[in-house]
Amino acid sequence: MTPVPAPVLSVRDLSVAIGARRVVDEVSFDLAPGEVLALVGESGCGKSMTALALLGLLPGAARLVAGSIGFEGKDLARLPEPAMRAIRGNRASIVFQDPSGSLDPLMTVGDQMAEGLHAHHTLSRDAVRGRSLAMLRAVGISEPERRLAQYPFELSGGMCQRVMIAIALAAEPAILLADEPTTALDVTIQAQILDLMKALRRERGTAILLITHDMGVVADMADRVAVMYAGRIVETGPVETIFAAPRHPYTALLLRSVPRLDDRPKSEMTVIEGSVPAQGDWPPGCRFAPRCPLAEPACTAAQPALELVGDTRAVACRRHDVVEAVMGER
Ligand SMILES: Nc1ncnc2c1ncn2[C@@H]1O[C@H](COP(=O)(O)OP(=O)(O)OP(=O)(O)O)[C@@H](O)[C@H]1O
Ligand SMILES: [Mg+2]
Repeated sequence: MTPVPAPVLSVRDLSVAIGARRVVDEVSFDLAPGEVLALVGESGCGKSMTALALLGLLPGAARLVAGSIGFEGKDLARLPEPAMRAIRGNRASIVFQDPSGSLDPLMTVGDQMAEGLHAHHTLSRDAVRGRSLAMLRAVGISEPERRLAQYPFELSGGMCQRVMIAIALAAEPAILLADEPTTALDVTIQAQILDLMKALRRERGTAILLITHDMGVVADMADRVAVMYAGRIVETGPVETIFAAPRHPYTALLLRSVPRLDDRPKSEMTVIEGSVPAQGDWPPGCRFAPRCPLAEPACTAAQPALELVGDTRAVACRRHDVVEAVMGER
């Protein structure tokens, strides 16, 4: 067996609550240097909350209530805000799902890029400008010299998103949290940005947590996948293993809901009957049981633990051994 490198990020039993409700519940995963882990699941499953919790960016109503986040010898779950600020945008960057509000409306693009670079590197003014221009070009922004002098309101939403990506990547972080980074962008630019992320991971060993609805992107980019349902990881393992034979009924349905062959780009996961319970209002036992075609009475009695099935895959389902036989047809 090839030796497994020590993880750069080690998340254990991460739980986030909004009031009494756990919208992220005991989530654990590791990220190795240069590895891409895709976090997938329907809307409201807790993907963004997981990413935001990692960097201490939870919205006001949400609190990190349990768990540890091991990163470069520290537990980010217990790090005071000033120390966290030194890591954010430097060793660990995040690209938000929603670009509005993540750029400062009162600063030019150039000043915001320079601020990010200055905060973490000692570079001359010329070097900062050169680096900023190179990053803007790399994310497909035309006339980068002109853009540097512009304010966010003068740019389209897609362009703001690309500026944000450029800022996040310019720091050459050890980990990149990318929350639907390319959803708002057209396919050409999307491909360009995914290529950029691939290069970063290959050349700099950046580890990437990639949140996406697009299973084509998962197949193209990710080494491993973690499937979230109702705040919990229900199945995780290497992409090939899980795509070839999902062992959780939810994963099977997610994959089935993806258009086959090449009719990308949009593959929304909306065809599973029912919906994710609102706001962490989970049923007893397995949270997927009310929507699950394989549920039996025992499933609603106790919540299944995420258990290793085979060498590399973990799944939280009492019926995982019949999923392939019953739901295998795609
Ligand atoms: N700012 C907020 N205040 C209160 N509740 C929120 C807030 N943002 C999200 N939630 C709730 O937290 C839960 C998890 O949401 P989260 O945004 O993490 O889902 P997601 O998996 O990222 O979904 P999507 O695919 O739509 O981005 C949901 O029940 C959601 O309604
Ligand atoms: Mg989200």
